[in-house]
Amino acid sequence: MTITPHGSLKKAPPLTIPPRQAARLPESDAAAGGLFEAIQRGEAFETVVHEATRGEKPVLEVSNFNLWYGEAQALHDISLVCPDGKVTALIGPSGCGKSTLLRCVNRMNDLIDSVRVSGDMTLNGESIYTAGVDVIELRKRIGMVFQKPNPFPMSIYENVVYSLRIDGERDRSVLDEVCEQSLRGAGLWDEAKDRLQSSALAMSGGQQQRLCIARAIAAEPDVLLLDEPCSALDPIATGRIEELIDELKGTYSILIVTHNMQQASRASDYTAFMYLGRLVEFGPTDEIFLQPRLKETEDYVTGRFG
Ligand SMILES: Nc1ncnc2c1ncn2[C@@H]1O[C@H](COP(=O)(O)OP(=O)(O)OP(=O)(O)O)[C@@H](O)[C@H]1O
Ligand SMILES: [Mg+2]
Repeated sequence: MTITPHGSLKKAPPLTIPPRQAARLPESDAAAGGLFEAIQRGEAFETVVHEATRGEKPVLEVSNFNLWYGEAQALHDISLVCPDGKVTALIGPSGCGKSTLLRCVNRMNDLIDSVRVSGDMTLNGESIYTAGVDVIELRKRIGMVFQKPNPFPMSIYENVVYSLRIDGERDRSVLDEVCEQSLRGAGLWDEAKDRLQSSALAMSGGQQQRLCIARAIAAEPDVLLLDEPCSALDPIATGRIEELIDELKGTYSILIVTHNMQQASRASDYTAFMYLGRLVEFGPTDEIFLQPRLKETEDYVTGRFG
């Protein structure tokens, strides 16, 4: 079979879709229904991982990761790599654990008392979950932007330089430089440069979201986590954020949650499909969208399910 070269999704020639691989389930389970039904029954299965994901240098590695909220298990044995300098999209129906997984990367789930985890994640080879990890330092290396823009109730300038202020930076020229570079990096400089001292809360939703991205990149993180960053934005603001993601990749490794299949196919290099807390299939985005190995993945990305 011919694998479409990476990045050529729009120009891809018509494909001869190979027969779908049967979900790797014991025969008795497979006979009793499809993969989704087997997962609903709690059967074990093996994630389908495409070969091309193995050649990349990972910035983030998730290994056999499980999470429980009290008695309820929300993540089941997730193993995943986020390649360095690339965009990885997390897709799947509502409630499948995308935000939960994202929050585990910077240990935000530590803030929820009922949460228990097992397994590990590593950032550039260093464990995120081992005893003694400095969580404040970890969160500086892993920036996060949420579905709803959350600028702090302060000026645009102070929002951007917030992480430097926390670190005690007082040199005005350093702060000015970081402010400008971060706003430029987030595609917001031209709109913000004449109103840096105005309240960030007076900006439009799309501007606020780009401001949150500027605030995240001002800390020079290794990884940027984006949880449905465009879901509250109009198509024009969404397009700007997508352009921005394209510009930021390479410099940053990005893990993005999205419900928008066009966005996942346009903006990401790799795609991970989750269902009910399991990672179902993981591979290069063009393979996941054009040649998924599992029928269930095809049904989801083509909108026949979910
Ligand atoms: N703080 C919490 N306490 C208890 N259960 C939670 C908590 N947060 C999430 N859950 C549960 O964990 C599961 C996964 O939720 P999560 O928010 O990660 O899903 P999601 O894939 O991000 O969904 P959506 O696409 O709707 O944002 C759901 O069953 C949810 O009810
Ligand atoms: Mg979510």
